[in-house]
Amino acid sequence: MHLNVLSQAVPSPLFEGLWRHPDDRSATGYRTMSHWTSVARKLEAACVDALFFADIHGVYDVYGGSAAASVRHAHQVPAIDPVLLLPALAAATEQLGFAVTYSTSYHAPYQCARVFSTLDHLTDGRVGWNIVTSDLRLAASTGLGTYIPHDERYDRADEYVEVVRALWERSWDAGAVRHDAAADVFTDPAAVRAVTHQGRWFTVDAAHQCEPSPQRTPVIYQAGASDRGTTFAARHAEVVFVTLNSAKRGAETVARLRRRAEEHGRGPDALRILQGMPVLLGRTDEEARERAEQFTALSSPGGLLAKWCGWVGVDLAAHPDDTPIAEILTEDGRSVVGFLASAAPDRAWTVGDVRDFIATPRRPHRFDRLMLFGTPEQVADRMEEYVEVAGVDGFNLFPCPPSSGIDDICDLLVPELQRRGLFRKAYDPAETTLRERYFGAGRRDYLGASER
Ligand SMILES: Cc1cc2nc3c(=O)[nH]c(=O)nc-3n(C[C@H](O)[C@H](O)[C@H](O)COP(=O)(O)O)c2cc1C
Repeated sequence: MHLNVLSQAVPSPLFEGLWRHPDDRSATGYRTMSHWTSVARKLEAACVDALFFADIHGVYDVYGGSAAASVRHAHQVPAIDPVLLLPALAAATEQLGFAVTYSTSYHAPYQCARVFSTLDHLTDGRVGWNIVTSDLRLAASTGLGTYIPHDERYDRADEYVEVVRALWERSWDAGAVRHDAAADVFTDPAAVRAVTHQGRWFTVDAAHQCEPSPQRTPVIYQAGASDRGTTFAARHAEVVFVTLNSAKRGAETVARLRRRAEEHGRGPDALRILQGMPVLLGRTDEEARERAEQFTALSSPGGLLAKWCGWVGVDLAAHPDDTPIAEILTEDGRSVVGFLASAAPDRAWTVGDVRDFIATPRRPHRFDRLMLFGTPEQVADRMEEYVEVAGVDGFNLFPCPPSSGIDDICDLLVPELQRRGLFRKAYDPAETTLRERYFGAGRRDYLGASER
């Protein structure tokens, strides 16, 4: 089983209002090196595959027509840039992998290629790239880009990946760097070539600036939920995040994703599929319930609305309560329609219903099926079910509360998974890169369609 732990360099990663939790260290720790190095060391001691950083650019300003709710409730603001944390975290660890979100919408592909080659060198091949296309309404307001419709964003991202992969994989031959002091040759110029690309979105005619790194191409992660997003994942991703509503119903989604990857010419073993889930643990039933009550009490309805409205691009405060939600959802909300339909298939969701649903803090102890909640034994039972019934390869866990929850994963859950023989007790020394950790020793190169 593969285990990633998700966080974000913000005061209240994932859970709105939890920065107020008395045991949590994220509120001030998110901007300190000591916090993140201790998180990384803790995860490494538990043999976790990778620490995963989510990220956005800009401030969500949809709910109430301004950024006030996001700012007030610390919804992904303030935020620091996680890319800059990685070299320091790599220096504090030896084995832990790192995956970082980097948008195809805010930076030129040439710059992306250079950043990830640098990270791959400095982490000794322990880096992954979570590809997101981002909500470009924010890009327009920050001056970082212009708005592009959802599916076209993915078309652009296809071309983006093509360019960065060409820079990583085709610009420098393996033996290009010679270090031949006697002949005064550092690099053989004949072994380095320009990548010439002229496409709809990008034009590049230059050699990559970095020599090949241990993995050349970082491990590619993706979390597309829409049909177009799933196609993108099937084409490019090596590690895919899914949010399955249940293990039983999720089996078809997992099988479809693997089938789609094969349709794109990739082998049956091309994907590692990880179920993304919040996890809230207690040593006993009673402690888990107490923690759940506390979690519910600390959750911030205003923060939840700021998050949801920004994510979906719809201001729930701007429409009468009885407006059918389907009438006002933009195309960015497509995945949400599917989610609401699966949560209550016969319900005609209105703006008021959705607002109440979103602003009501989740109650893990009332069985929130999208959350792993309970004692380590209970949580491990559900994880086992996801692996056996849905066929996922592992989990991307969202620790709750955000930092003390990491301690719980490492101190309570991992030992239980190890006791059941489901999770490693030590890193395999033969697996030196992050890709090898997922796909086995010797699997160094990107496992994309071109390797078929
Ligand atoms: C586990 C997980 C992590 C994600 N991390 C980010 C992130 O850091 N930044 C971001 O802009 N989107 C993030 N997303 C959103 C996805 O990139 C994607 O936009 C979303 O799943 C909707 O997919 P769709 O665009 O195909 O509908 C994440 C999604 C999941 C499930």
